[in-house]
Amino acid sequence: MLQDKRILLILTGGIAAYKGLDLIRRLRERGAAVTPVLTRAAEQFVTPLSVAALAGEKVYRDLFDLTDEAEMGHIQLSRSADLILVAPATADIIAKMAQGRADDLASTLLLATDTPVMIAPAMNVRMWDHPATQRNLTRIAGDGVAVVGPNDGDMACGEFGPGRMSEPLEIVAAVEGHFGPRPLTGKHVIVTSGPTHEPIDPVRYIANRSSGAQGTALARALVALGADVTFVTGPADVAPPADVKIVAVETAHEMKDAVDAALPADAAIFAAAVADWRVASASDQKLKKSKDGLPVLTFAENPDILAGVSQLATGRPGLVVGFAAETHDVVAHATAKRARKGCDWIVANDVSPETGIMGGPENAVILITDQGSDPWPRMSKADVATRLAQRIANALG
Ligand code: CTP
Repeated sequence: MLQDKRILLILTGGIAAYKGLDLIRRLRERGAAVTPVLTRAAEQFVTPLSVAALAGEKVYRDLFDLTDEAEMGHIQLSRSADLILVAPATADIIAKMAQGRADDLASTLLLATDTPVMIAPAMNVRMWDHPATQRNLTRIAGDGVAVVGPNDGDMACGEFGPGRMSEPLEIVAAVEGHFGPRPLTGKHVIVTSGPTHEPIDPVRYIANRSSGAQGTALARALVALGADVTFVTGPADVAPPADVKIVAVETAHEMKDAVDAALPADAAIFAAAVADWRVASASDQKLKKSKDGLPVLTFAENPDILAGVSQLATGRPGLVVGFAAETHDVVAHATAKRARKGCDWIVANDVSPETGIMGGPENAVILITDQGSDPWPRMSKADVATRLAQRIANALG
């Protein structure tokens, strides 16, 4: 897929640089040649020797290395690749790119190049959220730089939130997406994601533990394959993906309306954990403690959005995919769910607390289709997303 492609991979100084080693391996597995460049700070995290060994090529480190200048020159080095990939990209290199500074080899290459540039940011969550970083990102995106990630998650610094570098396979998917073919180009895909919040009164609600991680990863993987994604999300923990049309909702009813408004679509993927019930008559005033006893909540059933779209008489998307979160008899329940709802595929997973799947970084899914059940090995949610997006592309192809 990346045969005959040369990637100039710039590793900058962050703890995620260790994932850069795996990234080199993954890129080379797919046929790419990797020319590595290390900043001084990156050398604190990975050694030039391990990078050179994995890349099978010389590591470029210094702007003023005269031998290199005679051999190639930094201008030529900056233009010799099909893509410049900065992974991990620190807040510092992003700031330099935004300002057009050239005070080391990496920043000079980025300023001198006429080659497409892609970055995979990695930094502490507060550095990511800082207005200066967000300003810089907007500026370099305007300059045509493609941005992959970052993901949400536990960070090496002990905090949680956006800033963790995308997984190597997500970055590889984005690189493959860059070079095409982008099999989902021109295809509209609706993805629902996250939990729903069903109000009890203006300050209280009923929710569930869905983080939105799997739906978000899936939307990202679909975008990497060229899809136009409408991302209908409940109040999720993870940041929404870039390059999608985001429709933020709270309740199941709002999610249904948003999905209906987003139709028609070539495919619809229902990764949201939709509340099955809502409080029948949510109070428009805050419920107060009362001596007369405890409040009694009466429930009403929410519309089943997946079943509604699956059973549309006209305008049904060509492929409708549901998720099934089960705690026991996973295949039997998910197979029955597929038949009951009328969708084409069910992505089933075991969300028993001991699996650590709900809210965790990994997933172990069983894909249920009209061909039966296909268990996938346990892998990261990003890898599940990449594989599922590819299957979706094959089905729509
Ligand atoms: N779903 C939906 N609308 C709902 C409930 C669920 O679109 N009101 C979708 C989910 O997004 C998911 C699939 O249906 O793709 C399965 O949801 P799940 O809650 O696991 O199944 P249920 O039908 O609610 O069955 P049960 O609660 O018995 O497990």
